[in-house]
Amino acid sequence: EKKQERAAAAGCSMGEPSRALSREEALRFRPPCWKHACHILLYAPCPGRLFGMIPLRYAVLMQMRFDGRLGFPGGFVDPQDGSLEEGLSRELQEELGPGAALLQVAENDYFNSFISEKPRQVVAHFYVKQLSLEQLRALEERATQAKDHGLEVMGLMRVPLYTLRDGVGGLPAFLSNTFIGNAREQLIQVLEVFHLVPREMLQKAVHAARKMS
Ligand code: GTP
Ligand code: MN
Ligand code: MN
Ligand code: MN
Ligand code: MN
Ligand code: MN
Repeated sequence: EKKQERAAAAGCSMGEPSRALSREEALRFRPPCWKHACHILLYAPCPGRLFGMIPLRYAVLMQMRFDGRLGFPGGFVDPQDGSLEEGLSRELQEELGPGAALLQVAENDYFNSFISEKPRQVVAHFYVKQLSLEQLRALEERATQAKDHGLEVMGLMRVPLYTLRDGVGGLPAFLSNTFIGNAREQLIQVLEVFHLVPREMLQKAVHAARKMS
């Protein structure tokens, strides 16, 4: 509830101008016309420092997809899936492997939804879940055992949440990659709403990324 209010309040100030919907609004777009997909941002507090100097802040997981674009783990909810969360759990099992069994994604982890009409009509639901660093590392260690590893998923990665002294290395360079669907916007919104990166640094990184591309 609180999470959703924060998401709505944050709007899309730093992303592209598409609108975030609540779960209720999003569920009015019904299959089979509209396909529903669920993806999740998993993160953990990360106390380390790069080169002993630069705070890492958090470990945020994303993946390199088969199509060369960056996105979050998750996928389409199938008609056989009992709920959005069951569909997401199945996709996480396929894409993250056996470590995903420990995740227990629940309705409480829901963040927001976006609709897109091109190339097809998809309602993309987004979840956010905080883990301990130990849990996140356990996922990473077993991810190569996933059924989709090397196929639909080319690898997991952590997002650099700092900007190097040149003003482009780190988060700005990461943001200038190509992302699937709304994934870039989803990432920026969560970094802002959950205070994973100081607001001013995030704004500068988004600005620097824009100049790079
Ligand atoms: P298939 O086995 O090919 O069905 O893949 P999948 O079920 O894993 O689906 P996928 O993860 O590719 O996502 C389904 C839909 O959501 C596609 O239309 C993608 O364009 C879109 N999508 C994929 N990843 C993300 C993401 O991280 N964020 C958002 N917003 N959309 C995504
Ligand atoms: Mn080295
Ligand atoms: Mn999948
Ligand atoms: Mn997927
Ligand atoms: Mn799938
Ligand atoms: Mn698949």
